[in-house]
Amino acid sequence: MQIDGHAPVPGEIRENERGKQQPMSTEQDLPDAMMGVQLVGHGGVDQLVVRDDIPRPDPGPGQVLVRVTATAKNNTDRKAREGLYPVEGEDDVESFRVGGEATLTFPRIQGADVVGRVAAVGEGVDAARIGERGLLDFNLYPDRRAHINLVPDYYGHGADGGYAEYVAVPSDQFHAVPNPDLRDAELAALGMCSYQTALHMLTVASVGAGERILVTGASGGVGTALIQLCRILGAIPYAVSSPGREAALLELGAEAVIDRTRVDDWCEAVNAATGGEIIDAVMDLVGGETTNRFIDVMIQRMGERRTYPRLSIAGAGADNVTRIMWTRIYLYQVQIFGVSHGTRDEAARLVEWIRDGRLRPVLHGAFKLSDIHRAEACFVNRANNYLGKIVLVPDSQWQAHGEAFAIEN
Ligand SMILES: NC(=O)c1ccc[n+]([C@@H]2O[C@H](COP(=O)([O-])OP(=O)(O)OC[C@H]3O[C@@H](n4cnc5c(N)ncnc54)[C@H](OP(=O)(O)O)[C@@H]3O)[C@@H](O)[C@H]2O)c1
Repeated sequence: MQIDGHAPVPGEIRENERGKQQPMSTEQDLPDAMMGVQLVGHGGVDQLVVRDDIPRPDPGPGQVLVRVTATAKNNTDRKAREGLYPVEGEDDVESFRVGGEATLTFPRIQGADVVGRVAAVGEGVDAARIGERGLLDFNLYPDRRAHINLVPDYYGHGADGGYAEYVAVPSDQFHAVPNPDLRDAELAALGMCSYQTALHMLTVASVGAGERILVTGASGGVGTALIQLCRILGAIPYAVSSPGREAALLELGAEAVIDRTRVDDWCEAVNAATGGEIIDAVMDLVGGETTNRFIDVMIQRMGERRTYPRLSIAGAGADNVTRIMWTRIYLYQVQIFGVSHGTRDEAARLVEWIRDGRLRPVLHGAFKLSDIHRAEACFVNRANNYLGKIVLVPDSQWQAHGEAFAIEN
């Protein structure tokens, strides 16, 4: 949309605020500064600072500039803020450094699951993409390989993300999703941080049709994605959750729901839920002592199994440390898969399923971006016992994309 009389000609040379020159095609006369939220250090929500004078990024070669309309919240934003990604000392305050160096530097704009419109294109990108509505594949991929992602990092951590009015991202990772039945906030709720992780958990564990899968943290972003993806793959998901979510989880596709707050004996509880059928694999997002109990569930009747017991783990919200006896793992041949993000191939597969309408957004509601502290509190406390995702909408986009989903308390 053109804001004033000056519409830049596609390919014209613009000068950005840093004085560099680069070809850029735009849909409008773009502001030099934007509103956004900067994470200024590790710590509490006070480290998230709302500003209206952040320099707007320009799209580099091969990039698109996205005018953000909605960005979904993920647990990783909180964990990165609090520095909860240690890989050596348990008490270390750490961010991702899988590639060697820590890539989270301050100030950083968080927000991985970005939806918006292409507002400008960088060198080498077709100007016809301007105006296109799309969803970001949130990964900062280390290389072009589509089937493997060995050094996971992401927009909102190793580079600026979507908690702002604009973000510049690779054009081939901004996937067009025109579906008019999906509002922008709903599309953000289908973001890759949850869905790609969930799909990768299932893929690495070779989950197939007819298999019975136990899903922990089932009411969350990744859990609700896992339930839907199990059904798409023909597998049968059993949800582990807390009270108040049973009806919604059954409606989403869970075969049965186990209330984790009322379990004394996990083998008994799971057998009751499955009618005595074997659990083929566990998708764990919670960690801690119950991970051990899920291994008990899988190894209880080895002679009756058709496959090796498989455990995919992608989160440890309950506790980052579990005491496991290795004899139990190797004698029972338990296969354990650590999962961080996923691959370009999986992102492409998910985008097709979104376009086909096979994945349903599970959206709790939206907050204005300037209300990020309240959004954080709602997310951390899981106020209202909600299911699925919360999204943040830039204040300038609120009326068009947020108001209909506003969370009042
Ligand atoms: N490795 C990756 O690439 C990757 C990507 C995305 C997320 N993650 C991680 O995966 C986990 C889930 O992410 P998310 O975005 O789905 O988070 P979320 O939306 O906050 O959901 C987490 C769910 O875990 C359950 N839970 C929380 N505390 C628990 C506890 N103490 N014991 C048992 N269950 C508990 C709750 O579900 P119920 O009340 O229903 O049990 C909660 O809804 C997080 O740890 C996140 O950091 C990892």
